[in-house]
Amino acid sequence: MTNALDDVDYDQLRQLVGLVEHDETADPFPVKSLDAVVFIAGNATQTAWYYQHAFGMRLVAYAGPETGQPDHKAFVLKSGSARFVITGGVRPDSPLLDHHRRHGDGVVDLALEVSDVDKCVAHARAQGATILEEPHDVSDEHGTVRRAAIATYGETRHSLVDRSRYTGPYLPGFQARETPRRKRLFQAVDHCVGNVELGRMDYWVDWYHRVMGFTNMAEFVGDDIATEYSALMSKVVANGNHRVKFPLNEPAIAKKKSQIDEYLEFYGGAGCQHIALATNDIVGTVTAMRAAGVEFLDTPDSYYDDPELRARIGEVRVPIETLKEHRILVDRDEDGYLLQIFTKPVGDRPTVFYELIERHGSLGFGKGNFKALFEAIEREQERRGNL
Ligand SMILES: [Fe+2]
Repeated sequence: MTNALDDVDYDQLRQLVGLVEHDETADPFPVKSLDAVVFIAGNATQTAWYYQHAFGMRLVAYAGPETGQPDHKAFVLKSGSARFVITGGVRPDSPLLDHHRRHGDGVVDLALEVSDVDKCVAHARAQGATILEEPHDVSDEHGTVRRAAIATYGETRHSLVDRSRYTGPYLPGFQARETPRRKRLFQAVDHCVGNVELGRMDYWVDWYHRVMGFTNMAEFVGDDIATEYSALMSKVVANGNHRVKFPLNEPAIAKKKSQIDEYLEFYGGAGCQHIALATNDIVGTVTAMRAAGVEFLDTPDSYYDDPELRARIGEVRVPIETLKEHRILVDRDEDGYLLQIFTKPVGDRPTVFYELIERHGSLGFGKGNFKALFEAIEREQERRGNL
């Protein structure tokens, strides 16, 4: 059951993730929110523990062999409005294990909460999307969920979920779990980034326009996003009120291997690269996550000592000395500023990582930090022998 611990109201969300006004009546595919980020992990039991202890998430529901699900385990974790579902195969013939063999730990489903599953699927079908699951009802003693699923890049899907007639802890078949209250480290998912193959970014941008009615928020090409050695291109699509934002990256030709190429090679194709988590206290969040063992990308002293940075960012909530101590990046645009920091990849493969983001009016993605960020990523790629 959702309870007060998870509540994030509209005004908080507006500040946290940068919501804008939107009239839903003309929207062909109205999306209410990101319902869940669903992962496949090699060991869901231990991965769920990691997100509880290192990311401060609460276990709220569970399904597995003990609840009549012989094939797999699924742990539902929450932090504010963010919901992660960690799944893993139990039986050797579980299809989740085949997926894991191909991709390693990663995101299999960016599930979207919608108010009208049938309307969305009809629109998606008319636009040529692949329907993986037709609209259907699933029920238990807590009510009925209507759901469907469509295919997006790689082997990733978007489940579409209408939970307006459901009061259970997640989905039918899941049992509620109560875990002790812990300090909440983030309140919402800000954006989920997809890496796609060379030449496919514009295809997927157009796909989100046609199939989901998403609009362009930003794009980063050429010099924005190139270092001396590697490069990428990025365009951001979002639903009407910007509650759901999907940047899409593709590699660009450069002297050495792009970080996107490294991802595509090790993930085995297109997939979700990073998830940005919105916090209203990035210093507190980074401190707690570091103490729990989460590793962040390092930023050189020169980033903070650069007089141009100080001139560019002006007054921010946290003194630059504190940002430097925690290696937090800062960027300002016409709407405000943001603070952000990136973890190293959290699994065995150099694929999925996280961003923490604290927005103060800025609706951007930290464009002013791309160079410093990519140079930090390249240092890590080099250490892995993949540059
Ligand atoms: Fe990001």
